[in-house]
Amino acid sequence: MTFNALWLTDPKENKTPAKIEQVDETTVLQLPITLRVLYSSLNYKDALALRAKAPVIRQFPLIPGIDMIGEVVASESSEWPIGKLAVVTGWGIGEQYHGGLAEKFSAKVEWLTSLPEEISPINAALIGTAGLTAMLAVLQLEQQGITPEKGPIAVSGASGGVGSFSTWILAKLGYQVTAISGDPYAEEYLLETLGASSILPRSELSASGKMLQAERWAGAIDCVGNHTLANLLAATQRNGCVVACGMAQGLELSTSVAPFILRSIRLVGIDSVYCEVARRNAAWQRFATLLSHSPLPIPYQSIALNQAIAFADRLLEGNICGRIIVKTTLN
Ligand SMILES: NC(=O)c1ccc[n+]([C@@H]2O[C@H](COP(=O)([O-])OP(=O)(O)OC[C@H]3O[C@@H](n4cnc5c(N)ncnc54)[C@H](OP(=O)(O)O)[C@@H]3O)[C@@H](O)[C@H]2O)c1
Repeated sequence: MTFNALWLTDPKENKTPAKIEQVDETTVLQLPITLRVLYSSLNYKDALALRAKAPVIRQFPLIPGIDMIGEVVASESSEWPIGKLAVVTGWGIGEQYHGGLAEKFSAKVEWLTSLPEEISPINAALIGTAGLTAMLAVLQLEQQGITPEKGPIAVSGASGGVGSFSTWILAKLGYQVTAISGDPYAEEYLLETLGASSILPRSELSASGKMLQAERWAGAIDCVGNHTLANLLAATQRNGCVVACGMAQGLELSTSVAPFILRSIRLVGIDSVYCEVARRNAAWQRFATLLSHSPLPIPYQSIALNQAIAFADRLLEGNICGRIIVKTTLN
């Protein structure tokens, strides 16, 4: 038996390293649970892997796709009977293990998260790694005592996947959000759709700044790193907290100890890939609570498996607004 999958071979050995293949089930479905994939999504990391732009894939050949939602079709676990829905994000899928851009997916039991009934399969795909990362960042702000009364929260890369979810979740929870964005067309989206209170142009924070600046925010969720993260640390008010999620501007961080020793600022990192199960479950439950009151406003395009390579190019060019959901049918 075979199934359709995006199949990546080593770009050093192959001129067309990404293509759709009929994959033999016996060579790929070797873990205890088999899922029929309902939806996967195309993330920036997937696009980098598909176009061999960064060393995302740790062994070839491999099926890419860092998140997926599926239905159990074969199981060696009584906890995961046939027909149950599961969501999988991270754990090295689509990097070290075969990922979700395929009709079938082979999983370890510990990778599976039950889907709360308030979250539909399409919404689970929409949330995916980006939404989970944003919710983990918000939970971290809460854990650090940054409540809405403490003051506004800055979100950088606000029109991107993690930034959009962060902005929407914080606004829903009653925080005032300053959306930092370089997208000149995103004003209506950030203010009206996601509920940000104000917008700051990305250029105000993207260059090297003073080590301590006027205190502007109680906290921040940073998706871009580099000088932006340094400026967020420098402009966060006493006892505030900055949560670092991403590196869209760059991996480097050049700052001073001043915000830490003179204002007791805390800098906390998020890793959604190997995040522990209890924290993941808490994040999905918070989504369930939010979605029982309001629909998800994040825009998305739905594509078929055989469009994923073309859309990876568009994603890398920055020509995509919102999330890309991949239906795992061929067309
Ligand atoms: N820690 C984790 O577990 C985890 C999980 C998922 C993703 N990530 C990382 O988080 C980051 C965001 O991921 P994403 O999926 O949200 O990506 P995305 O959808 O591509 O969004 C990134 C956003 O960053 C802003 N941006 C782009 N280039 C920039 C630059 N040169 N300088 C400043 N801002 C820039 C843009 O927003 P504006 O146009 O609004 O400025 C862009 O929409 C990525 O670095 C990703 O690798 C980390």
